[in-house]
Amino acid sequence: GFRGQVTLDGPSGTGKSSVARAAAARLGAAYLDTGAMYRAATVAVLDAGVDPEDAEAVAAVVAGARIEVGTAADVELVRVDGVDVAVRIRGAEVTRAVSAVSAVPAVRRQLVDQQRALVEAADAVVVEGRDIGTVVLPGATCKIYLTAAPEARAQRRAAQLGVRDVAEIAAIAADLRRRDTYDSSRADSPLRPAADAVVVDSTALDRDQVVDRVVELAHESL
Ligand code: C5P
Repeated sequence: GFRGQVTLDGPSGTGKSSVARAAAARLGAAYLDTGAMYRAATVAVLDAGVDPEDAEAVAAVVAGARIEVGTAADVELVRVDGVDVAVRIRGAEVTRAVSAVSAVPAVRRQLVDQQRALVEAADAVVVEGRDIGTVVLPGATCKIYLTAAPEARAQRRAAQLGVRDVAEIAAIAADLRRRDTYDSSRADSPLRPAADAVVVDSTALDRDQVVDRVVELAHESL
């Protein structure tokens, strides 16, 4: 079987999570959703009543929170201080605040340490996020940067949420743009492809085609 590290980075709405999960299952690898960790940290911040833009207060809350994520591709386990937040982390309130929380350097250091420890425990792993190939696992065997045209990403996210209204789709597109700008322009670990990443554009591909490509690149990297 496959033994190695696959990093999957890219902006929101590229189908990254569903591709990463399916690829991990096909490779018999563990799966780590680092976005779920930043979202869980955001739950802790919101529950503490702290302003997500107040970096110092955010760092203090997250330092005291126990964030747990599972590494199995077929079950979503996300807990904050023992409480299951798997559903809540996908809500609009968390999605609005997560980019501010994840821009705080102390939060990133804490979660990156945790991510590296989880990866070390696995022989084979698919890790998805924004800075995995650049910062978290710069020595990974297989680095992939997944992109798609902005309209395709908004459509995909809308379909996922069951939204058909044109104005609502436009609002989703605006939110994706806002998050991508925030994530790409932050000082600490901005979203960008690693110099040695393979860029895969999923605009004209269906999910299975992207999964095939990821699995192929993983095998070729060994
Ligand atoms: O991937 P997902 O959309 O769940 O990520 C949510 C947010 O978490 C991103 O918009 C980004 O702000 C942050 N994130 C990050 N670094 C990662 C993964 C996610 O900053 N490795």
